[in-house]
Amino acid sequence: MSASEAIPNPSNQPVAIVGAGLIGRAWAIVFARAGHPVRLHDADVGTMEASLAYIDERLQELDGFGLLDDQPAVVLARIRCEPDLAAALKDVVIVQENIRETVEAKTAIFAQLDALAPADAVLASSTSWLPASTFTEQLPGRARCLVGHPTNPPYLVPLVELCPAPWTDPKVMARAHAIYAAAGQTPVTLSREINGFLLNRVQAAVLNECFTLFEQGLASSEDIDKVLKDGLALRWSFMGPFETIDLNAPAGVKDYAMRYGPQNRAAMAGVQPFSWADETVGRVDGERRKQLDVAEIGARSAWRDRRLMALAAHKRQAAAS
Ligand SMILES: NC(=O)c1ccc[n+]([C@@H]2O[C@H](COP(=O)([O-])OP(=O)(O)OC[C@H]3O[C@@H](n4cnc5c(N)ncnc54)[C@H](O)[C@@H]3O)[C@@H](O)[C@H]2O)c1
Repeated sequence: MSASEAIPNPSNQPVAIVGAGLIGRAWAIVFARAGHPVRLHDADVGTMEASLAYIDERLQELDGFGLLDDQPAVVLARIRCEPDLAAALKDVVIVQENIRETVEAKTAIFAQLDALAPADAVLASSTSWLPASTFTEQLPGRARCLVGHPTNPPYLVPLVELCPAPWTDPKVMARAHAIYAAAGQTPVTLSREINGFLLNRVQAAVLNECFTLFEQGLASSEDIDKVLKDGLALRWSFMGPFETIDLNAPAGVKDYAMRYGPQNRAAMAGVQPFSWADETVGRVDGERRKQLDVAEIGARSAWRDRRLMALAAHKRQAAAS
């Protein structure tokens, strides 16, 4: 069987996670939770082994919010640390690569993955910014390579962006889509490569406007954050901006565009890219540090993840009703 052929039930087939840092260990939770035997590999044996304790803690939390179908111990037992890369890749249906974000590192690891993984395995990179064409061009198996960009942490935020290189086989894209969907993720497919894929581009546009409004002295960083957390983002956790405007005019998107299109266009006239190297960043940081000491960022992130778990549990209930 080649990587482009369909597979009936991916959920019980082995997967390899290469790179067991923040994102790799989160992917291990996603696939093990869905029933896959998971081989977790990292160049650093200590990191790999420490990841099991981390995963165990996250599984206990997920179980507390009713987000596991199996006992945490059952899910954890599906994950095996594998220091030997070839052994990690044996018989897998997909390899999810999560090593550091440089073209050189990705090129080297993909050469190994293409040489060692079964011919029918999909090779996916978690890269946030690097198009697959920058590190797979020379590979004999380049048609089975793509980007599968997760959102952190993928066991709570299900979006996965599938982005092909110009040579990625469309059937491989479909196969990756099926594997991620069966694992409970929400795959979306790009038609071609673009810097930042979809999510980081949308986020960049929002951040550009937030920094610009702050820089112009229109509001504090705290109030601009409230525009999202107590405004736009409440709807956005259930529907995207297109569906939002579809509901915000009696006759839908066309009606919205007729009523508010000119104002939207005028508001964006002359928008410039924010410099990101400006003293404005320092002033936003100063306002944030009054709200949260750097030493408290870890605890606040853990709080955020617990709130995400409660939201995921709510969305799970809503989907079932
Ligand atoms: N951190 C995020 O929020 C986020 C979100 C989406 C995607 N990503 C992407 O995921 C990837 C990993 O990011 P991270 O934040 O988990 O990084 P990280 O630094 O936490 O983990 C990287 C891991 O890769 C291991 N590694 C390095 N070279 C290796 C090799 N040759 N073979 C095996 N293991 C190797 C390291 O030991 C380390 O444990 C990056 O491409 C990043 O762009 C990150």
